[in-house]
Amino acid sequence: MNNNQHIGIFDSGLGGLSVLQHVHQLLPREHILYIADSGYAPYGCQDNSFIEQRSRVITEHLIAQGAKAIVIACNTATASIIESFRQEYGIPFIGVEPGIKPAIIMTKNGHIGIMATTGTLASTRYAELSQRFGNSVNLHNQACPGLVEQIEAGLLDDPSTMRLLTIYLNALALNQVDTIVLGCTHYSFLSTQIRQVAGDTTCLIDSSYAIAEQLARVLEQENLRNITMTGSIHYFSTGSINKTKSSINSLLGYDVTVNPL
Ligand code: DGL
Repeated sequence: MNNNQHIGIFDSGLGGLSVLQHVHQLLPREHILYIADSGYAPYGCQDNSFIEQRSRVITEHLIAQGAKAIVIACNTATASIIESFRQEYGIPFIGVEPGIKPAIIMTKNGHIGIMATTGTLASTRYAELSQRFGNSVNLHNQACPGLVEQIEAGLLDDPSTMRLLTIYLNALALNQVDTIVLGCTHYSFLSTQIRQVAGDTTCLIDSSYAIAEQLARVLEQENLRNITMTGSIHYFSTGSINKTKSSINSLLGYDVTVNPL
């Protein structure tokens, strides 16, 4: 394995950009290929075999392009396939899961809301995670269908997005949550809107920076850090290139080139 080889990052769509931003900030010398599976998003309401098949197509493409490590920047796909892919493919996989552990440190009243996709909340991996860490607190799960589609369409401040958020956050408010875990990488892009609805005193837990730190640790352990001067980011999408490009531009605030996949 050559240290100059790229890191592959993928998500069902654009949510993983929240992870990508931290990875690029922390590891500016790394070359990154970002794949948005926007043509097949959302994953959250699909069954395991669909998610496995899509993740496999993308993983094999990234490996064929020479990936030295892969970040599954999607809670739903991580829950579904990370263990089997780690055994099957001979490179490191870094995944993302709802940040229950940091939420337990932050909560004052012991009531934590978990916003995630239906698929993540129904997974065995999430059941194990909540059993492992959830004994001392009350976890209130809130599936949030529809939010991923709004973010994919770049409709962050649209009234239709605010309506959905109000429904989901009111349900959590009934349980007096003082801490909310963003258990889907897309939701990072709605932190401002979530604060507007839930109030400034609610603590939001976003794992995307922790994932970048975990990637840095793994690359260090495996002696895979890049030592060349500057890294790069290349964006690919399985969906409409124009739509993906305009949504990425509005989410990141700058112009990027998106290639078809
Ligand atoms: N960003 C994905 C996640 O973290 C969204 C899944 C979906 O496409 O529904 O779960």
